[in-house]
Amino acid sequence: MDRIHTEPEDDIAVDPTTHITTVYGDDWQSETTSIGSSLYRGLEENGRRYQTLSNKEYLIPSDEKQFDCYEAGHLVALVMDSDQENPLFRSPVKDPKNILDLGTGLGNWAIDVADMFPTTTVRGVDLFPPPVTWMPPNCILEVDNIAEEWTWNEPQDLIHMRIMIGSFSDAEWKRVYKQCYDNITPGGWIEQLEASPYIECDDDSLPADSVLRSWGPSLSACGKRAGRPLETIDTMQDALRETGFVDIRQKEYKWPIGPWARDQKYKEAGTVNYQHWMSGMEGWAMWLLCKFGAPQPWSQEEVIVYVAKLRAELKNPRYHIYQRARRVWARKPLLEQGAQAETSESVTIKTEQ
Ligand SMILES: C[S@@+](CC[C@H](N)C(=O)[O-])C[C@H]1O[C@@H](n2cnc3c(N)ncnc32)[C@H](O)[C@@H]1O
Repeated sequence: MDRIHTEPEDDIAVDPTTHITTVYGDDWQSETTSIGSSLYRGLEENGRRYQTLSNKEYLIPSDEKQFDCYEAGHLVALVMDSDQENPLFRSPVKDPKNILDLGTGLGNWAIDVADMFPTTTVRGVDLFPPPVTWMPPNCILEVDNIAEEWTWNEPQDLIHMRIMIGSFSDAEWKRVYKQCYDNITPGGWIEQLEASPYIECDDDSLPADSVLRSWGPSLSACGKRAGRPLETIDTMQDALRETGFVDIRQKEYKWPIGPWARDQKYKEAGTVNYQHWMSGMEGWAMWLLCKFGAPQPWSQEEVIVYVAKLRAELKNPRYHIYQRARRVWARKPLLEQGAQAETSESVTIKTEQ
């Protein structure tokens, strides 16, 4: 019988001074700089630009507005693991030859990993060419749809995914994991980091009737109606096990939103995550609410008003809010026989601190 050991992060201690702007300053609320690009075109809809391949859209826009959010998301993940020797991944790969980053976005992760492992070939793949002007010589960024048949020939020592929530139906996820399995060298690793769309609060600081509390349930319901479940954070471990991966490990996080935490790491992560949400929310919501909103699809204007209300609440540093995140990493069995040949210990999910 497989067991899942779950030890969530401790409650985050609150900094009692962050609501006083003279102490922490107003800078954490300033918008991040836009990253320009005219490298690609996509479908324009409701004031945002989307990628389309095989007549199917990815629900989050890939435009300059959203790129600020991608940058911030990368930084939040790095800050939250800044006490690790390698904050980029936890899979214990030794002298990797090939690493693949699926849904690489701006390629931030792939570029950083290529810098860290100069003799490894690091590929990043996405639906659009990333607007980057420089990358290390051992980093290759490609355009492809990973929901289709893969064409890579080299077996990968590590396949990585981050914040791919909402990209696929259950059947597509199954196929993606199977293709990962088939393309990983025996003994190689898969690693995925996902964040929850729900805004949570461990004390009573967020009022019960706040608009922020409506966000997670509302988007999750849209995801369900769209056939793109947003619960990947809670389903990926079992999906990996069902695919045949073993030695499954996980690390659970609370990503603060805003600089309300006392601890410096959480304060920094929360400050950047605030930017992640401020720059991301409109893009996360527009496609889902305009196509699958309840009781009927919303208009662009309704989404803009909703996001304005959410933004106003997010600015309140008295709300001790966070989102859950989880990193899972797992190994492809060494033996041809697959997971059955491994000991029961190796199919247990272990939680790391
Ligand atoms: C939220 S972004 C995360 C980007 C990056 N992993 C990061 O953490 O910074 C998800 C990315 O997955 C890409 N994506 C979604 N569906 C895809 C598909 N079928 N094939 C390739 N990339 C896809 C999107 O274009 C987007 O860039």
